[in-house]
Amino acid sequence: MAVIALKCPDIEVAVVDISVPRITAWNSDQLPIYEPGLDEVVKQRRGKNLFFSTDVEKHVCEADIVFVSVNTPTKTRGLGAGKAADLTYWESAARMIADVSKSDKIVVEKSTVPVKTAEAIEKILTHNSKGINFQILSNPEFLAEGTAIQDLFNPDRVLIGGRETPGGEKAIKALKDVYANWVPEENIITTNLWSAELSKLAANAFLAQRISSVNAMSALCEATGANVSQVAYAVGKDTRIGPKFLNASVGFGGSCFQKDILNLVYICECNGLPEVAEYWKQVIKINDYQKTRFVNRVVASMFNTVSNKKIAILGFAFKKDTGDTRETPAIDVCKGLLGDKALLSIYDPQVTEDQIQRDLSMKKFDWDHPLHLQPMSPTTVKQVGVVWDAYEATKDAHGVCILTEWDEFKNLDFQKIYDNMQKPAFVFDGRNVVDSEKLREIGFIVYSIGKPLDAWLKDMPALV
Ligand code: UDX
Repeated sequence: MAVIALKCPDIEVAVVDISVPRITAWNSDQLPIYEPGLDEVVKQRRGKNLFFSTDVEKHVCEADIVFVSVNTPTKTRGLGAGKAADLTYWESAARMIADVSKSDKIVVEKSTVPVKTAEAIEKILTHNSKGINFQILSNPEFLAEGTAIQDLFNPDRVLIGGRETPGGEKAIKALKDVYANWVPEENIITTNLWSAELSKLAANAFLAQRISSVNAMSALCEATGANVSQVAYAVGKDTRIGPKFLNASVGFGGSCFQKDILNLVYICECNGLPEVAEYWKQVIKINDYQKTRFVNRVVASMFNTVSNKKIAILGFAFKKDTGDTRETPAIDVCKGLLGDKALLSIYDPQVTEDQIQRDLSMKKFDWDHPLHLQPMSPTTVKQVGVVWDAYEATKDAHGVCILTEWDEFKNLDFQKIYDNMQKPAFVFDGRNVVDSEKLREIGFIVYSIGKPLDAWLKDMPALV
């Protein structure tokens, strides 16, 4: 919305939320999320044509176009628990819009929702409309965190889905005109409602599938002596495949990939397509396998036990340049190490201690077998320390696990780190960011995902 305000000075944008602290933060110097470039955009337009307010009903009543970007988490109980999207917030937003509206409105789905949600929303709006005309559009967002502003400035495409009726087409045009202020017309795609909704789920499923594919290859590379970076480069040179999004890693995280694939799986099952559901489920299973494989490698390398050993965790966010920890692979890796009684010292440049402790003590929902696992006991929480410096985290540690690809980790003084660690000193690079040869020269035993193994690691085979 800040970018729309920047690119369309004639449009007044009001961002509303019922949370007072959140809106207060958006109106302050300290924005509630870290996103490169966002500060400048907000500061340029705030108070001019960009406003943040808790007066939800007033602004919805006045608006011509309402974008709905409420949370659509995976359901944790009831029908479809563990897979289906929870649309409670969407439904109450729709009822509120119907309630307060006094003029015709275009209602835009921005949250990722299951296919055919628009139909349900349309029913709620029209059954409560008091004669007002509502047009529903689906306008999924493809930005990635950490590069959100650049992605919005130069989107590969903008997708707008709507009803194939004169009213629907008019609404599509109105929204297209907003984006046309800065997006070339040929990059604005218009489709029917269901295609737009499904395209978002499909895009995230395809992206996640690429990562699970390269991660599956990484296991085979380690077993055979191939190098996953060389394989990915060679594969990506085929223009039909392309070079992007082929970095092997400890696993993908983030608020979208797992949630959207689970949703896709549920939709397939509900439509009587179990084979298709099973196919997409494998993408998540390989992701879980990759995280488990990493933990097993750490434990196996260190004489099959990390009990009471200090392990430094460098990076906790699900990717660099964000403080977001939703579904970050670091949660499962840390829990795996804590399960083997390791003592963790965690450093991430953007994630607070509170957030880390909350993430590690939260119940994990088992998507495949819906049952609640136990939260961590107080003793387990004591096994975790959070520090504000990579050197502090690694001091006296037996091993270092790099779980987020923050740029600063490439330039650490690894000689200094080595000198202050227990020996043998291990580095487990879950993001392939460090120069492993240089580290080996210093004396480290280095594990890099999908790369030929050190003699040490070959001698300590992990059950992977
Ligand atoms: C994703 C989609 O990219 C975006 O289009 C959609 O709107 C929301 O979901 P995001 O979750 O912000 O965006 O991050 P993304 O850059 O896609 O990374 C997701 C995860 O995959 C991260 O944990 C990242 O580290 C991992 N990843 C990405 C890899 O492991 N290897 C890669 O090659 C790329």
